[in-house]
Amino acid sequence: MKPKVLVTRQIPEDALRMLEEACELKIWPHSDVPATREFLEKEIVDAEGLYCLLTEKIDKDILEKGNRLRAISTMAVGYNNIDVSAATERGIPVSNTPDVLTETTADLAFALLLATARRVVESSDFLRRGEWKTWSPMLLTGQDVYGATLGIIGMGRIGEAVGRRASGFDMKVLYHNRRRKPEVEEKYGFEYAELNQLLSQSDFVVILVPYSSETANLITMDQLRLMKKTASLINVARGGIVNEKDLYDALTGGVIWAAGLDVFETEPVPLDHPLLTLPNVVALPHIGSASIRTRTKMAQLAAENLLMSLAGQRPKCLVNPEVFEKN
Ligand code: DGY
Repeated sequence: MKPKVLVTRQIPEDALRMLEEACELKIWPHSDVPATREFLEKEIVDAEGLYCLLTEKIDKDILEKGNRLRAISTMAVGYNNIDVSAATERGIPVSNTPDVLTETTADLAFALLLATARRVVESSDFLRRGEWKTWSPMLLTGQDVYGATLGIIGMGRIGEAVGRRASGFDMKVLYHNRRRKPEVEEKYGFEYAELNQLLSQSDFVVILVPYSSETANLITMDQLRLMKKTASLINVARGGIVNEKDLYDALTGGVIWAAGLDVFETEPVPLDHPLLTLPNVVALPHIGSASIRTRTKMAQLAAENLLMSLAGQRPKCLVNPEVFEKN
């Protein structure tokens, strides 16, 4: 008998076919609305496999209801929406989709960096409002990117890819990471810095750490005050790592220059959110990995991971190896 799998969203065709061949699927029927809690709670009861997105909270309650569950696969690299320790306790492998999205996400981090420095969105809005009367020496002047210092918080795969892009702009790269990485220092010339030192010396600070209890509120007014008045803060990791109220105060009070945000504490970010009123904020709807090719690869990798786990094999990208070590 085919294993029953719950899929919490319409997913790209190829991935769907891979799952359909091997499993009996229950799929949330919408592509632009997340599965309701009610749907999850009802459908998890029969499911042996769960294919989810970062929009679903897979907490203890859901895991308890899903007592036939033997595999969880998320179509994302971040998995802070899943109670991994509860899954581990129940012996359920949790898998994610790293690597395939590294370069695409690094591209977007750089797009935000350039957009904040050179006021790209603000300038475009200015033109569309009909305010462009003439070329003027200091009109919409921004900050230089070439030759500037880039500070990367979190030197994982994406951090490394962002740093590599910086070399084309003759930038100096500082990084901060839990573990110092001599290999990137040697290979690319990145320099390790303590967090405060990185914040005070960088012209651009890019946040790339995963969300956890250690990184929640990592950047508050205390940290923002250390930054240069001309610096931009870019967050393509998770909302909640930066305190949004403090960021608003820093942006309106001239503490920092600009922010490029692909992620928010609450997503979708409410339209009346104060940060959205600011011209020096470039705000995007969590599209870091959103290229057609990358999202297709993520969907396939998540399907592959799920099928391997259901077959009792170690999936390609396993978040909780303890599950296999125990067995
Ligand atoms: C992830 O994968 O965690 C990103 O936030 C979306 O690609």
